[in-house]
Amino acid sequence: MGPRVRVQLLPPLLLLLLRLEACAGARSFQVDYANNCFRKDGAPFRYIAGSIHYARVPRPAWRDRLRKMHMSGLNAVQVYVPWNYHEPLPGLYDFAGDRDLGSFLDLTVELGLLVILRPGPYICAEWDMGGLPAWLLWKPDIVLRSSDPDYLQAVDSWLGVLLPRLRPRLYQNGGNIISIQVENEYGSFSACDYDYLRHLLATFRALLGPDVLLFTTDGNSPAELRCGTLQGLYATVDFGPGPNMTAAFAPQRQYEPQGPLVNSEYYTGWLDYWGEAHASTRPAQVAQGLQDMLQLGASVNMYMFQGGTNFGYWSGADYKGRYKPVTTSYDYDAPLSEAGDPTEKLFAIRTVIGKFQALPAGPMPPATPKFAYGAVPLRKLAEVLELLDVLCPAGPIRSRFPLTFEAVKQAHGFVLYRTRLPRDLWAPAPLSSPPSGVCDRAYVLLEGEYQGRLERDGQTTLNLTGRAGASLDLLVENMGRINFGTNASDFKGLVRNLTLDSALLSDWLIYPLDVDTAVARGWPPRSPPAEGSRARPGPALYTGSFQTPGIAWDTFVKFPGWSKGQLWINGFNLGRYWPARGPQQTLFVPGSLLSPSAPNNITLLELEGAPPRPMLLFLDRPLLNQTVSPHPRAPLPPP
Ligand SMILES: *[C@@H]1O[C@H](CO)[C@@H](O)[C@H](O)[C@H]1NC(C)=O
Ligand SMILES: *[C@@H]1O[C@H](CO)[C@@H](O)[C@H](O)[C@H]1NC(C)=O
Ligand SMILES: *[C@@H]1O[C@H](CO)[C@@H](O)[C@H](O)[C@H]1NC(C)=O
Ligand SMILES: *[C@@H]1O[C@H](CO)[C@@H](O)[C@H](O)[C@H]1NC(C)=O
Ligand SMILES: *[C@@H]1O[C@H](CO)[C@@H](O)[C@H](O)[C@H]1NC(C)=O
Ligand SMILES: *[C@@H]1O[C@H](CO)[C@@H](O)[C@H](O)[C@H]1NC(C)=O
Repeated sequence: MGPRVRVQLLPPLLLLLLRLEACAGARSFQVDYANNCFRKDGAPFRYIAGSIHYARVPRPAWRDRLRKMHMSGLNAVQVYVPWNYHEPLPGLYDFAGDRDLGSFLDLTVELGLLVILRPGPYICAEWDMGGLPAWLLWKPDIVLRSSDPDYLQAVDSWLGVLLPRLRPRLYQNGGNIISIQVENEYGSFSACDYDYLRHLLATFRALLGPDVLLFTTDGNSPAELRCGTLQGLYATVDFGPGPNMTAAFAPQRQYEPQGPLVNSEYYTGWLDYWGEAHASTRPAQVAQGLQDMLQLGASVNMYMFQGGTNFGYWSGADYKGRYKPVTTSYDYDAPLSEAGDPTEKLFAIRTVIGKFQALPAGPMPPATPKFAYGAVPLRKLAEVLELLDVLCPAGPIRSRFPLTFEAVKQAHGFVLYRTRLPRDLWAPAPLSSPPSGVCDRAYVLLEGEYQGRLERDGQTTLNLTGRAGASLDLLVENMGRINFGTNASDFKGLVRNLTLDSALLSDWLIYPLDVDTAVARGWPPRSPPAEGSRARPGPALYTGSFQTPGIAWDTFVKFPGWSKGQLWINGFNLGRYWPARGPQQTLFVPGSLLSPSAPNNITLLELEGAPPRPMLLFLDRPLLNQTVSPHPRAPLPPP
């Protein structure tokens, strides 16, 4: 209110002040093409930054992680904004709690860090669908990341909400955001639609003003830069440690013959896929590459500086010849661990930074305390099939043929498909899906008895025997939408028809399940197990609780003998567990979720089969590197 009153009373004076400020060249951030550098307030400037994703770090830990980044010698952080995290349904926006972007950005100001913001609309980030909302696929023929009018209309509505919130935070306007990335690695996407990039450029300019530095990021090959860059957007590149950083920057120089060298994603580690080996990169190698780039005068952002966790259903997937879902941990072998603790790599990086700019005085904040709360017994509450009225209160949708998750407006999680055997099957008859017909895994039950599973890139046939009219259920799990490397829209559920003995199955009841809302509303009630909840395989819910010795420290939960599923503690969805495949064996449980006094309530959805004595084990350290069963080899695509 204050400034507005002043504007009304003294407009000429205010205008004069503004003009004086402009003359002094105050608060500017620009590219100096002649001198191959950035200029901040007129002086040569380079950033040494690190990536952190607020959506992967619990809000109570934001300040701690940012402080550690500041104490590592960074002068900036690079931050993605995941569109699907903030607009869960068209026109419904969420910037509260863990999604409070404004509060996160306020903390970066408090800690003296500049911000390089990457608002998408597509971000990749190994995040579900690369940050695009699944509801875009409600229009099945939409062409994502292109100038398809349906797509652009959704993008424009979102940017019209997001970018005006950022504008006062731009460096030129008194804030700490020095630059803004447009799209992300667009050159790796097949569409190569320059009209789309031009549209984004015009929208960003219209909503953010003429002065902010806008840039793109692409892999450092001419092929990737060709479709990812555009006149008016400063072209930067991304690459990891290597022997010759001059050579690594050469493709950027082809597209920006003058101006600062910028590596927007210098890889400190890498992500993990279920069923593959845990990724790691040696600290000395990361430090050496950083030193080489800083010697060249480059600005560098380290991806990730802290990786964090894919809580809930947010992990994405890659597609390289087959579907490759990303683990729940996004530790990334980053300088700050998943739990936010300094590692050997962090200190090696800090030593390098100290050779180029002054490090902040004072010690690095220590690791946060961890606690091994020990073994917690669980009991079976009920099988999923017994809980359909709780998990799907609206009841099923009837459809002659299967509908996708998107067609029934379910973004994440699980949908149950139910039909009946059309005839007696005395001899084993194959239930089959075409390749990639099940996205991504179906847990199959006949008259409530678990039969096994069908998979997107694995087993596509199960033999069944049974009587005509027997209830056939497929609980289908979405393992995360593809975030990179293909232009295909990644629909979930039974995306093709199933056959039984080559005859099409029809007349389905489709139950979109909402476990999260039920759990958030305090379900399950504390009651004895339902009668007849036998110990048998198949999807079922388990509960238990534990009390802490008056503390609420971080911990890591292990799943001895469990197969695959999803875990909630005190109503918070900690993500997928899959010890039967690995490499991740424990889930990170932030202490901020735990109560030091009340019992901490565990809800677990096991999809395949529980151990004979169901229990969880809370440890004081993570186990991320034990691949138990590698991903089954999928047939390679035709050359
Ligand atoms: C690094 O690459 C540059 C440019 O390709 C080349 O001129 C230089 O000789 C290389 N340096 C080494 C040590 O190989
Ligand atoms: C199904 O049964 C047939 C005939 O008994 C057998 O050849 C086939 O291997 C079985 N398939 C599976 C997936 O078990
Ligand atoms: C990807 O895009 C190309 C060119 O637009 C098209 O030919 C191809 O069919 C698309 N692939 C998929 C899997 O959608
Ligand atoms: C299932 O088969 C029916 C009948 O051939 C067809 O109309 C429908 O499009 C198919 N559904 C899918 C998802 O392929
Ligand atoms: C766990 O559930 C019990 C019983 O409903 C409740 O009293 C307790 O407060 C819950 N614990 C937490 C940490 O919410
Ligand atoms: C996993 O990591 C731990 C801790 O770094 C290490 O002690 C162990 O040897 C590793 N195990 C495997 C199977 O690589």
